[in-house]
Amino acid sequence: MSQISRIRGTNDFLYNDSRKLRYIEEILHKKSRIYNFEQIRLPIFEYTDLFQRGIGEETDIVSKEMFTFTDRGNRSITLRPEGTAGTVRAAIENSLLNERSINKIYYIGSMYRAERPQKGRYREFNQYGIECIGSDSPHTDAEIIALNLDILKTLSSNLNCEALSILNLEINTVGCEKCKPKYNDALSKQLASQKDKLCTVCQNRYDKNILRILDCKNEGCISILENVVKMYDYACDECKAHFNILCDALNKMNIDFNINPKLVRGLDYYTKTAFEIKSNYLGTQSALAGGGRYDNLIGIFNNGKQVPAVGSAMGIERLLIILEDSNFDNTIKNSIDIFVVLFKETSNVGIEIINKLRQKNVSVESDFNIRSIKSQFKTADKYNAKYALILGPDEVLDNKATIRDMNTGDETKVSFETLESVILSKLK
Ligand code: HAM
Repeated sequence: MSQISRIRGTNDFLYNDSRKLRYIEEILHKKSRIYNFEQIRLPIFEYTDLFQRGIGEETDIVSKEMFTFTDRGNRSITLRPEGTAGTVRAAIENSLLNERSINKIYYIGSMYRAERPQKGRYREFNQYGIECIGSDSPHTDAEIIALNLDILKTLSSNLNCEALSILNLEINTVGCEKCKPKYNDALSKQLASQKDKLCTVCQNRYDKNILRILDCKNEGCISILENVVKMYDYACDECKAHFNILCDALNKMNIDFNINPKLVRGLDYYTKTAFEIKSNYLGTQSALAGGGRYDNLIGIFNNGKQVPAVGSAMGIERLLIILEDSNFDNTIKNSIDIFVVLFKETSNVGIEIINKLRQKNVSVESDFNIRSIKSQFKTADKYNAKYALILGPDEVLDNKATIRDMNTGDETKVSFETLESVILSKLK
């Protein structure tokens, strides 16, 4: 029978990786609280319509990367490719927008995109997303960026990861419904004579979603776009002011940034601010986090009632790739307090002692298969046990046991009556 393997583009997070994820998640929760974001947990699948209308029919995500299927009731369902559309749906459906004027939300969870898998690009991946719904202030955009960078800085210093300290924050304005059409028009006019020199994907984008041409990685397209018109020059006064205040706020917070006039994002809902945090360490999939403002998205699902919002998402697998070059493994090394070395005759007494210690929150392991003493000590080492508690048959008859310090090899004999208190004081 052939072996069953995991689906291409998915990952198994085994012991060590799972510990790393937990470490990262603890920081994500902690930092989110500091900035007063509250966690939500949403369904992994939604009606397809949510993403089609939210992210945009012409985006790569919706047009070719969604895992969509028809359920038994003949409804079209899609595994969420991102978290913003679902968050907006949930905020409206659960009346969050009526209860608070500003909702600061975060989520950690798996997303699904049928992309060609490669390092840093998977079909199932995890995102840490933050969304601030209800504020139109550029200072909120700055706060979103600051939270992302704060998390990355903390991880970099806790885990001694230099790669994570060298990041590039790129920002841009993509305009609003008033000025975006003027810019699209100018771009279209400028590129008209060279349309047939663009790659086939961009020729299609030219007609359907011209802004996305700016994001093309094809060398021919990059050279055609070298002196392309800039959005900022076509932005309305409101968008210009918003962008200028954002730049000012970042400067005030001592956050370095580069303005990249060609930064457009892969989702259609953005207005005004767009940003990405990039790392050279990631190669072609250089974006570690990305986001921006989406002042028109909520209106689509809210009977036209617009509510301004801004947010971002960070790719957790990409974070793990950068953290490969750090002392993460040492930081998260698992260890147990006590390994109890048992003999056939003493396992009955052993289970009683083990249980009592665990009730006192001491982490204890043993080998009930009772292999040789040598292999039991090897196992104790494998689990990085701080102490071994040896329950030899003669000692047990005497109501005693031996505690061995696994670091120094020092041994002490202890009576059963004082065992618990001696162990607890050693572990203090
Ligand atoms: P996004 O740029 O599509 O934005 O994704 C955000 C991050 O998720 C990326 O920067 C990357 O680190 C990670 N990512 C995306 N696709 C993959 C993949 N196939 N494999 C591994 N990692 C991936 C959004 O999803 C928006 N919802 C962000 C947002 C929130 N904008 C406003 N609010």
